[in-house]
Amino acid sequence: MAEATGNKDAKDFGIGTPQDNQGYYLKGSAHLDWGVKDRLSRVFNPVSGKTVMLAFDHGYIMGPTRGLERMDLTITPLLPYADCLMCTRGALRQIVPPTLNKPISLRYSAGSTVLTELNDECVMDIEEAVRLNATMLAVMVAIGGAHEALTIRNLTKTIDQGNRYGLATLGVTAVGKALTRDARYLSMASRVCAENGAHVVKTYYCAEDFEQVTHACPVPIVIAGGKKLPELDALTMARNALDQGACGVDMGRNIFQADDPIAMIQAVRAVVHDGEQPDKALDLYETLKNAK
Ligand code: 5RP
Repeated sequence: MAEATGNKDAKDFGIGTPQDNQGYYLKGSAHLDWGVKDRLSRVFNPVSGKTVMLAFDHGYIMGPTRGLERMDLTITPLLPYADCLMCTRGALRQIVPPTLNKPISLRYSAGSTVLTELNDECVMDIEEAVRLNATMLAVMVAIGGAHEALTIRNLTKTIDQGNRYGLATLGVTAVGKALTRDARYLSMASRVCAENGAHVVKTYYCAEDFEQVTHACPVPIVIAGGKKLPELDALTMARNALDQGACGVDMGRNIFQADDPIAMIQAVRAVVHDGEQPDKALDLYETLKNAK
């Protein structure tokens, strides 16, 4: 119990020194609550403002795709190099050691697979996400697709549930077979996610006018890698996306399907966090690969 007498008199009120308002470094995030900011600060490095997310949630729609046949062998060794892990709850419990203590972008929507029409999805239970200590909830949003309204309802529900517990939501812009990945479409899809309250948006890079996509999106954008490209092309895509306003990558196949995935994720890190140019990052990739 505090003593009633004999205490030192309070005197250090810092008169004349204005209180530091502590601005926040992520765009569109200044007015979020403390818990969400704390979680986003685990995903986006507070020094670089950037992130390298490793996506290996593909199995929920694609099954054991190349590189994910044995995630315990191929993905677990990559985990220490990622800033954030994007995965299903199955993979999380099966191959991610809880002692790793990395932020998790949990695949929160689930439904149809590549064998039928994609994006006919529901969302998980928020208590399960809290139980798993998820940092971000990743939800597919299929703008212009057959299940557009359903996926926007899923996004809305997720944001409402996440906000209740201070979890961030990642809107993942799906691209239907009939839709083009151009700036017009991607900026609309990203903006719809942000306007509905997504804290972060994951979308694809497009070679023309990607700046319009990032600038029209009031919250941080991370890019998906898409199908496997030659290493230099993937590193160039990451460099261009960052230079045009993306806050990082959420990359899967271009890392885990590379000849040397551990070298590749380090090369991607060099681009994202150290501002490395693609040719130098490729040199790093080759050096690390040949050192084995
Ligand atoms: C699929 C996803 C994937 O996680 C995403 O596409 C990232 O992987 P890749 O870099 O292989 O495209 O969101 O639903």
